[in-house]
Amino acid sequence: MSIKTIILAAGQGTRMKSAKPKILHKIANKPLLQHVYDMSKKLNDNSISIVYGHGAEQVLDELQELDVKWVEQKQQLGTGHAVQQAIDFINDDDTVLILYGDVPLLKLTTVEKLINLVEERTLALLTVILDNPTGYGRIIRDANQLVTKIVEEKDATVDEKKINEGNTGILAVKGKPLKKWLNNLQNSNAQGEYYLTDIIEMAVNDDFMIATASTENVDEVLGVNNKQQLSHLERVYQMEKANQLMLEGVTLKDPMRFDLRGEIKSIGKDVEIDVNIILEGAINIGENVKIGANCIIKNANIGDNVEILPNSIIENATIGASSRIGPFARIRPDTELAENVHIGNFVEIKKTTVAAGSKINHLSYVGDASVGSKVNIGAGTITCNYDGVNKFQTIIEDGAFIGSDSQLVAPVTVRKNATIAAGSTITKEAPEDRLTLARSRQVTISSWQRPKKKEK
Ligand code: UD1
Ligand code: CA
Repeated sequence: MSIKTIILAAGQGTRMKSAKPKILHKIANKPLLQHVYDMSKKLNDNSISIVYGHGAEQVLDELQELDVKWVEQKQQLGTGHAVQQAIDFINDDDTVLILYGDVPLLKLTTVEKLINLVEERTLALLTVILDNPTGYGRIIRDANQLVTKIVEEKDATVDEKKINEGNTGILAVKGKPLKKWLNNLQNSNAQGEYYLTDIIEMAVNDDFMIATASTENVDEVLGVNNKQQLSHLERVYQMEKANQLMLEGVTLKDPMRFDLRGEIKSIGKDVEIDVNIILEGAINIGENVKIGANCIIKNANIGDNVEILPNSIIENATIGASSRIGPFARIRPDTELAENVHIGNFVEIKKTTVAAGSKINHLSYVGDASVGSKVNIGAGTITCNYDGVNKFQTIIEDGAFIGSDSQLVAPVTVRKNATIAAGSTITKEAPEDRLTLARSRQVTISSWQRPKKKEK
């Protein structure tokens, strides 16, 4: 059975009050439309088309690489009209699944349940019981509880408006009858639109069964229309991720103050995460890792027994086992730290490898460098890696000791076990096992006197 998914995403989203089309707004830093795409991508034997329209250029700019057929709906004449635009991609024996690009949290299991209800002469409809169904199409059932049609809010009678079973908009049906019904849609309704929902009555008239699936979890079928709903679904999404992690054994000091904007590919036992943590991109975390408050960690591999102290930022980096980072450390892209490395407060480190057991504990900038093992870099050390045009490499070999407040003017090499005296500006290679100093000698001027105020 081939599935053809059509994601409706042409609407503007006026109530977002934004220059950006609605479906590009993000939950967990991922466009709404892509949430829907990622979920439907997991269906077997499925090809996806997206009906887009509003902000066409922006949508393609941002999401063109998605593996879909893009179908432009130049004028938004209604949900039925939107599906019509994709009709060329539908074969008679396909199962067609209609999704909305602005309903980001819909679950794969729910969609599978719906698809399984589809038969030659059965249309499957996802409905939801709502405390307040205002705005939703209402599901009209006969005395035998069989669905007979959907009535849109704006076309509903006072009695129909009292029905609290709403149309989620999500449905699945065979291609052949769908094409026939779409061709017969009229726009003689309160909104002058071609309603997809009108196919329900047509199906009933053709002696089709309307099978309904429902979800207890209302948030799953909520659409985003304004920023308040966007933030609601963001929190729902985040709470779900936090709950999953806690069930996997992760300690979250406060699940309400944890944000995942990407994916945790792996996480070990006994990980403790304090409050206000943002994890982005692809993250691997080993066992027994502690992450202090207010850290942002993006695309990182964190080894076992690592401790990240508060207010640290890590991006595109590997932190070796048993290393200690922060507080207030900034680990920038292409940094690789081996085991037992200490990076302390107000240290910025970029595009640098640091071998086992080395320490850069205070107020330093180390960039474009290769640091050996058991190196000690004193407070206030700077690799001068940039001449305003090009970047150069600093090499610090095993066991070197860099005295505080030194500048290493790259390209430069500090050899094995070399010691650099504090306050040195190193521009040439510092040899192995020797003390190198490059600073003016201390002198005391014995004849000097403090200036005195002139008497008036
Ligand atoms: C629709 C349903 C309603 C259901 C509700 C659930 C119809 C006629 N009504 O109403 O029964 O309860 O969703 O939220 O189907 N879209 C297009 N092109 C268009 C019009 C819409 O792509 O010409 C897309 C929108 O971008 C959106 C989706 O279709 O993703 C739904 O459109 P929207 O205008 O929100 O439909 P509702 O009036 O809310
Ligand atoms: Ca809507």
